[in-house]
Amino acid sequence: MGKTKSGDKGGAALKITVLMGGASSERDVSFASGTRVAAALRARGHAVTAFDPVGKVLSVEEEKGYLSGAVKKAPPTPEFLATLKIPGSLGDHPAVRDADVVFLGLHGGQGEDGTVQALLDLAGIRYTGSGHLASALAMDKELSKLLFRAAGVRTADWLMAPATEAEIVSALGLPVVVKPSKQGSTVGLSVVKRREDLAAAIELAYKHDDEVMIEAFIPGRELTVGILGDEPLAVGEIIPKHEIYDYECKYTAGMAVEEFPAKLDRADTAAVQQQALAAFRSLKLSGYARIDFRMSPEGHFYCLEANTLPGMTETSLIPQSADACGISFAELCERVVRLALEGERSPRRA
Ligand SMILES: Nc1ncnc2c1ncn2[C@@H]1O[C@H](COP(=O)(O)OP(=O)(O)O)[C@@H](O)[C@H]1O
Ligand SMILES: [Mg+2]
Repeated sequence: MGKTKSGDKGGAALKITVLMGGASSERDVSFASGTRVAAALRARGHAVTAFDPVGKVLSVEEEKGYLSGAVKKAPPTPEFLATLKIPGSLGDHPAVRDADVVFLGLHGGQGEDGTVQALLDLAGIRYTGSGHLASALAMDKELSKLLFRAAGVRTADWLMAPATEAEIVSALGLPVVVKPSKQGSTVGLSVVKRREDLAAAIELAYKHDDEVMIEAFIPGRELTVGILGDEPLAVGEIIPKHEIYDYECKYTAGMAVEEFPAKLDRADTAAVQQQALAAFRSLKLSGYARIDFRMSPEGHFYCLEANTLPGMTETSLIPQSADACGISFAELCERVVRLALEGERSPRRA
């Protein structure tokens, strides 16, 4: 670990509340991550509370249930999710107010887009990962891509809807990828190969977001790079059973091969790690994140997005990226907590 400042209880047992669940389409995935993080931090001797911010503190039995259960093949329906709400008074809940640090095991929606981060800032509570502005930027694929480009990080060409079929085909060609601009887990995303399928794909994406992106399809390989603190971890390659790394491939065992470290030569490894770090800095992220890429047949890396609250089960991608660098899952969780307590959201520029 790096420097510890006086007063941050370096090395001592902490009161940690892990937030999990929430109201986004990644609710189920979040319980899988959150319960693993809680178990790992508890095994390190911390006093850990598991708390679903739309509901209550989880009982031991509930935690066990999520620990042993698999994530369902499909995300919860938007109708069900509409019944759930993270209260504005989150910071007043004893589970949050009394914690030394809140570990954000939420994924997607208000847990990841900066809203919960801003609530915790208002309440003066320390939390893991990026701050509210950085979280909001990373959640917005259009703003992310503008900042990637400004920082010299290559990303696929894109248009925002509304755009006519003629505009799309002439600017981006086919196939294209149509996606909600502020979603995750490949929800509402389609690869469109035929012009006549564009309208339906855009309609589908609008079901999940009020902003829809149409992006040039980048053939080739799928890579991901974890960042911890200010250092890139190992590069991974994902080989999904489907054409794209969709919800089912992400969360069903055996639906994707994941290789850490990826079979890349040294120069390509260093190049994509450098691009990942540049992307991380361009959005002013902090703590940890996972940056996803496509590698085209010509060998160019195209940044797809930054995930500020990436999956955190032992077999999720950033834990594998850390493991390939000799950092165990428990150590990763611990370091993410320590980085939150060090408290510098925007590290000094080198
Ligand atoms: N431009 C693209 N070219 C090729 N595949 C893509 C492209 N955009 C997305 N994909 C595929 O869809 C998956 C999810 O897309 P992504 O932009 O990361 O959205 P999400 O936030 O839903 O994860 C990617 O991991 C990749 O497999
Ligand atoms: Mg993604």
